[in-house]
Amino acid sequence: MADSPWYQDAVIYQIYPQSFQDTNGDGIGDLPGITRRLDYLQYLGVDALWLCPIFESPFTDAGYDVSDYMRIAPRYGTLGDLKRLIREAHRRGIRILLDMVFGHTSDQHRWFRESSRFRRNPCSNRYLWSAAEFGGGKWVWNNEGRHEMYYASWNVSQVDLNYGFRRLAKGNGNSPRDPGVRALYRDCRRIVAYWLGQGVDGFRCDAAGFVGYKACGNDGRLPRLFWRSIRKVADKFGDRVLMSEEWDRPVEAVNEWGFHLSFSLLAGNLKGLLSFGKPGKGRFRGDPLAFDRAFASQSSGVRRKDHGLVLFTSNHDSGRLADCSGGCDALTALGFLLVLTQNAVPKIYMGDELGMRYDSAAPSHEGSGARAGNRTPMPWTSGRNAGFSTAAAPKLYLPVTKGYQRRNVGIQLGHPGSLLEEVRGMIACRRRHPSLRTRAEKITLHARKNDPVYAYGRRCDDDTTVVAVNLSGRPARAVVSLRGLTGGRAALVRQLLPRCREGLEVRHASAAELGRFPLSLGPYSYQVLEVASL
Ligand code: NOJ
Repeated sequence: MADSPWYQDAVIYQIYPQSFQDTNGDGIGDLPGITRRLDYLQYLGVDALWLCPIFESPFTDAGYDVSDYMRIAPRYGTLGDLKRLIREAHRRGIRILLDMVFGHTSDQHRWFRESSRFRRNPCSNRYLWSAAEFGGGKWVWNNEGRHEMYYASWNVSQVDLNYGFRRLAKGNGNSPRDPGVRALYRDCRRIVAYWLGQGVDGFRCDAAGFVGYKACGNDGRLPRLFWRSIRKVADKFGDRVLMSEEWDRPVEAVNEWGFHLSFSLLAGNLKGLLSFGKPGKGRFRGDPLAFDRAFASQSSGVRRKDHGLVLFTSNHDSGRLADCSGGCDALTALGFLLVLTQNAVPKIYMGDELGMRYDSAAPSHEGSGARAGNRTPMPWTSGRNAGFSTAAAPKLYLPVTKGYQRRNVGIQLGHPGSLLEEVRGMIACRRRHPSLRTRAEKITLHARKNDPVYAYGRRCDDDTTVVAVNLSGRPARAVVSLRGLTGGRAALVRQLLPRCREGLEVRHASAAELGRFPLSLGPYSYQVLEVASL
């Protein structure tokens, strides 16, 4: 698989910059903080970092309200800091992806101030303006200057950009050929080219499908037009990646819109599976088969081999992986194994590798609402402010999560039984075995409703592995056939990762035994087996 693009084999790690590492004592994480922690990220084994938006912003939605796409928000540092981060990351084989928010801008953006003026100007058609409401959704009256309504599908301070929606009035730019709309496309291309020119390796593109709201006449044509034009820019820079956040149409995003990767909503279903097994839940009533089928149908829809879906542990908007497992590390580890060994690109949200939980005590901050609980500082040490910042506690971006003294990087790093080390072992195993990576074939071996054992084979050239998990807190067994994986021949079966309760290490299995190969799994345990035909 030497010819595959880097992102196909990548493990992506998402950083919420505000709460990762502060270096200047203002209580807010910054770019030098990320640089400082690169050794940790390299140790963990990740290949790329996605940073949530770092551009200038009034932060009414934590930076997803950009007021200047060409400038870094001073609280994160300078362009020089970003360049240093990129240089240091690249030196360690780690790529840097920025978060590009092209669905809307902040109402503080110069484009919007111009657009709101009564007098016509080059920005007049840059947003969705209308004299009267139509199509439902959120129309907001603008009293200054223009005396029309603008469309804001998120918050009123995040104003949707106009990519030429056909339901607008002609004079407001209802076609991508409108000169004002064309100028927007051009500006977006320039922005992308500028950052790629600074050395960033690609973008996670916020709300990609929302670039074109249904109410205003989005039939999927506009995102296609827009993102393809962005893709052309990216392609000029070589192996850069565009990763779409697109919940409704991830397959369309990779097949039609020019994205290399798209987030699969099925990550949520995977997390759901864990929650059926959490301690105290009683008999397992999840449905691995439904997940397996849904994922197969989604991933088989991806036409290009070098494009793919992203499965993730969690993100800055939703509850964490460890919440689904009720804080049971052994079960959280199963979630990691599934994310890391499906035929998808895995994405880990910072802190998930420590088993961090959603913090219900976190107060809403910068428009987070209840999402604050997922955005609390990364706990590095058991010391003051969890090693996140030297600022006085009230100045911290968000308070550190209670109990960080028991769960932090310092405690888990190098500790053989810790979740962090377990996840690190899984990532390393994935790196060693091409069959565990994204593009390898997947053959489902055991997936049934109400059955906690979920097993599948992965195959790439001569490398064949079996992944089996027991999602319940009770011992479980299943009998699977490995014949299809070995071509019917006797095989050597070797345990690749240590958490096999049955102590199976290396085993010769005859062709007949492979037809009925017993998997025996302790509570919340897994097996990752290498199967080598003899
Ligand atoms: C999705 C982002 O993940 C979320 O944090 C943000 O608020 C919305 N898009 C709007 O940009």
